Amino acid sequence: MSTKSLWFLWLISTLVLSGVLGYELFAESQKPHFLPGQTSLGHFQIELECSACHTESFADQQAIQQSCVDCHGAELDAVRDSHPRSKFTDPRNADRLARIDARYCVSCHSEHTPETTRLMGVTQPQDFCAYCHEDIADERPSHEGMGFQTCASSGCHNYHDNQALYEDFLLEHASEPALIVAGKLPLTSMEELIQVSGVSWSPYQPASGETLKQQGWQEAHEQWTSSAHGAADVGCVNCHQPDTDEAWADQPGTEVCATCHESEAKGFLAGRHGMRLAQDLPPMTPAQARLPMKENASHKELTCNSCHSPHEQNTTTAAVEACLGCHNDDHTLAFEQSPHHDTWVSFLEGGVSREEAVSCATCHLPRTEYKQFSNTIVRVDHNQNNTLRPNEKMIRTTCMHCHGLGFSLDALASEDLIQSNFTGLPATHIQSIDMALDRIEPSNTTP
Ligand code: HEC
Ligand code: HEC
Ligand code: HEC
Ligand code: HEC
Ligand code: HEC
Ligand code: HEC
Ligand code: HEC
Ligand code: HEC
Ligand code: HEC
Ligand code: HEC
Repeated sequence: MSTKSLWFLWLISTLVLSGVLGYELFAESQKPHFLPGQTSLGHFQIELECSACHTESFADQQAIQQSCVDCHGAELDAVRDSHPRSKFTDPRNADRLARIDARYCVSCHSEHTPETTRLMGVTQPQDFCAYCHEDIADERPSHEGMGFQTCASSGCHNYHDNQALYEDFLLEHASEPALIVAGKLPLTSMEELIQVSGVSWSPYQPASGETLKQQGWQEAHEQWTSSAHGAADVGCVNCHQPDTDEAWADQPGTEVCATCHESEAKGFLAGRHGMRLAQDLPPMTPAQARLPMKENASHKELTCNSCHSPHEQNTTTAAVEACLGCHNDDHTLAFEQSPHHDTWVSFLEGGVSREEAVSCATCHLPRTEYKQFSNTIVRVDHNQNNTLRPNEKMIRTTCMHCHGLGFSLDALASEDLIQSNFTGLPATHIQSIDMALDRIEPSNTTP
């Protein structure tokens, strides 16, 4: 071949290649071609947003680490992470890093490797605790003969969050009965909250925005009149035209709600309902889900309004009916046959208070105490992933308002009970409390 034709070939192939690459790079829908493999359950919704984790193009380990910490650092701090990075930067523990460099998140949570990814994005084998705790049976004879695959799978330990499993906590709650029913926490009212947070808005001026579209507004107006917003003077313009210099918006977005409901919006955006919005991606829809969803819900978009219809804000329908409108897995479908659901029916019929009844939201959007300056306020945690896994996270926020610790540990360790949405009693017993009691027995008997 002559030099000329070689050059020509090079030109053509470069053009073709860059054309293809250019096209793929620019077309969002083509990006999966560049993914080295499917992304984990926790992250697939934002997988096309490569830069969320690969913050610089082809970022080094440190940059990826920083992205993990930016999104998850606060939640690990809040649960007093039992294996923080600082444990492993301590030279006395340097020998522990021989088999697994626990200073880096990706050592245990790599990505795009579906074949080795377990629940919670863990990419280590189930018995990996042995890498560092091989000698545990020498230190604690009670652990003699236990398999390392059971450390974190039997309601005994977690790698990060052991808040419901610390020995002193187990001892403190060792002898509680199965059922207590003190009920959930009562919510702090917006009125109190406004005093604490200083949120304010101009009260509704009926004449201001309304005149424009009066015609089609009858229904919205009627619903709004009997809603909490109507009662609190949060008017049409507060949502549809918060800035009077801007045009009336037909579909106010989450950011509008967030101006008055900051903690709710923050929670929503951090979980699997709102995480796409948090990346400025179009809202999540059931059609994109990996979990089973109702077919007729596939087009619904996840915003505040998926659970709260915009002019009613009814928090009762939001707590069960709304969820059933989308979710379609066995656990969800079993709820209506469960004893917990009986308590919800009793609430709807005026039997027990809402605080004593169990809805989907009781467990998944629990009422949570927050510190705001020096005040403690109770609001609904809208991040349903905050208490989902490891599921012992639910014990303190939810179960223990109505059940003893021992019963809750047993119930949450049962895969069957999760499937049946807690219909029936736990079949097996978790030994943690007994073991903690055994350990203090000698000191108990000496005066
Ligand atoms: C949720 C975070 C996240 C997102 C989003 C993400 N990645 Fe990754 N990616 C990772 C992690 C973690 C690793 C593993 C790094 C390691 O082990 O050092 C990785 C590794 C890679 C690798 C190297 C694989 C190998 O075998 O060495 C490539 C290539 C890559 N990602 C491409 C992409 C592309 C392209 C996108 C967007 C379409 C993307 N990633 C989106 C987290 C992410
Ligand atoms: C030595 C292994 C290891 C390292 C390193 C590690 N994790 Fe984990 N992580 C786990 C395991 C195992 C789980 C499963 C749940 C458990 O046992 O607590 C988990 C669960 C999680 C969860 C979900 C459950 C929870 O407790 O919130 C998040 C989020 C998480 N890890 C983030 C991180 C981040 C961020 C880093 C880095 C700062 C990190 N992990 C480093 C092993 C590790
Ligand atoms: C842009 C924010 C963001 C970044 C960056 C990010 N994550 Fe996540 N991650 C999320 C969200 C949102 C979820 C889903 C909600 C949840 O499970 O908390 C999630 C889920 C997870 C889970 C699964 C929890 C479960 O219960 O299944 C783990 C583990 C995790 N992330 C670890 C990491 C690690 C390690 C990195 C760095 C490689 C990382 N994340 C980077 C936002 C992020
Ligand atoms: C990379 C090494 C490493 C791995 C892997 C590891 N640990 Fe640890 N763990 C440590 C170190 C270091 C300490 C603190 C010193 C000590 O107590 O030995 C610790 C302490 C603990 C403690 C007592 C302290 C506390 O705060 O609760 C428990 C319980 C524990 N680990 C359980 C586990 C379990 C369960 C796993 C597996 C899911 C695991 N560890 C995996 C290194 C590791
Ligand atoms: C709490 C905030 C809020 C208040 C207060 C509010 N709206 Fe809305 N409204 C919304 C949201 C959000 C939507 C969009 C719902 C959707 O996405 O389908 C909406 C939709 C509408 C629509 C339908 C727009 C369309 O897509 O055709 C009308 C009409 C409307 N509102 C009128 C009113 C009137 C009149 C008032 C006062 C009586 C009012 N709204 C008060 C939040 C609010
Ligand atoms: C201008 C401030 C403001 C804006 C904007 C706003 N709200 Fe509200 N919201 C309030 C006030 C005040 C209450 C009254 C609560 C009370 O009486 O305790 C309230 C109550 C609620 C309630 C509880 C209803 C009940 O029955 O207890 C929900 C749910 C709610 N808002 C959702 C939303 C959503 C969704 C949006 C966005 C579409 C939104 N809000 C926008 C101020 C606002
Ligand atoms: C998955 C369904 C769902 C979504 C999405 C949702 N909410 Fe809620 N919300 C609920 C439920 C259920 C309750 C009542 C729980 C209770 O009473 O224990 C509630 C309660 C509230 C309350 C009153 C109680 C409080 O103190 O927090 C406000 C305000 C609120 N939501 C605002 C919002 C805003 C703003 C958004 C969007 C950022 C939003 N919600 C998205 C289900 C949802
Ligand atoms: C508009 C549809 C819709 C509504 C309404 C809705 N969800 Fe979801 N939910 C989803 C989608 C979509 C996901 C993400 C599924 C996925 O990523 O595969 C999700 C995720 C979840 C998860 C996390 C599952 C996991 O494995 O991480 C929980 C828990 C959950 N929803 C509970 C609820 C509860 C409780 C309600 C009612 C208060 C509710 N949802 C209302 C669509 C909805
Ligand atoms: C008594 C508490 C409780 C009630 C009530 C409850 N759940 Fe759950 N839910 C759980 C627990 C615990 C898990 C499992 C967490 C784990 O270990 O993975 C779970 C898991 C889920 C998941 C994730 C399923 C998966 O396969 O990943 C969804 C979605 C969900 N619940 C939705 C709902 C809906 C919708 C309702 C109401 C119809 C509901 N839940 C009622 C406690 C509850
Ligand atoms: C608001 C109170 C309340 C909360 C919160 C609550 N429960 Fe219950 N639970 C009840 C009541 C009431 C019963 C019915 C007792 C009966 O009928 O004897 C019940 C029954 C049960 C049963 C036995 C069902 C049967 O068939 O006998 C299990 C298992 C259970 N709950 C597990 C849990 C778990 C796990 C949690 C936390 C994720 C939880 N519950 C949260 C009130 C609650």
